[in-house]
Amino acid sequence: MENLLANQVALVTGASSGIGYGVAKSLAKAGAAVVLNYHSHPESAEQLADEIQQHGGSAFAVQADVSDPSQVEKMFAACRSRFESVDIVVANSGLQKDSAFADMSLEDWQTVLATNLTGQFLTAQSAVREFRRRGHRGNSNALGKIICMSSVHEVIPWGGHVNYAASKGGIQMFMKSLAQEVAPERIRVNSIAPGAIRTPINKDAWDTETALKKLLQLIPYGRVGEAEDIGNAAVWLASDESDYVVGTTLFVDGGMTLYPGFADNG
Ligand code: BGC
Repeated sequence: MENLLANQVALVTGASSGIGYGVAKSLAKAGAAVVLNYHSHPESAEQLADEIQQHGGSAFAVQADVSDPSQVEKMFAACRSRFESVDIVVANSGLQKDSAFADMSLEDWQTVLATNLTGQFLTAQSAVREFRRRGHRGNSNALGKIICMSSVHEVIPWGGHVNYAASKGGIQMFMKSLAQEVAPERIRVNSIAPGAIRTPINKDAWDTETALKKLLQLIPYGRVGEAEDIGNAAVWLASDESDYVVGTTLFVDGGMTLYPGFADNG
């Protein structure tokens, strides 16, 4: 997949850890210049930017809270001033604030919705405006590509996580409605729905033998995913190799959405 994204600029929100970090790395490996957004941990985003540059690529890190419209605008302004524009936008920032439903605070509900859903709204809106402003750049069949980071929980209900599941269920219709609206302009909008990927967000689910055994019962393919699995999917979805893929959710989950509990007659 080397050079599949040459001469293109990618912005990845939430790129300082987990899936965002892995996606940024993969996009850079495929030849894109990468803008790494972080919220509160500059060190790892800056270190990844340095690493990309040492390998001959282009990258820089930019701070922004994606739930704040003015900070999102500034983030896009930074893309323009450094790289002229942006071609691929991965709206990835997301967080979990888990609790039993009756104990969930309004703050935890709102914080999760603000980053996971409103954050993607603001990021995608700025992306569409930027694609329109600069017009076709001749480096892709599309005017621009937006990848929304969803989750298997856009379809799998998740007790104890109603805020998170609601945000990802929202992403499903947000992505499809936006894809339908902007496809005539050749803007491609799609989602990736990761299953259990080995990242800090779900450490409790894989870092002990007992937890891992329980988790693997939910994954027919028999292994926990790696950020690189999502990175590879993102490279494809961002490239012209997927030019006819519009408004689709790509599940990258080792079969987690296949109702594994029914593998043996239910
Ligand atoms: C969540 C993880 C979880 C995975 C599968 C993801 O969207 O962020 O915590 O392990 O879904 O349940």
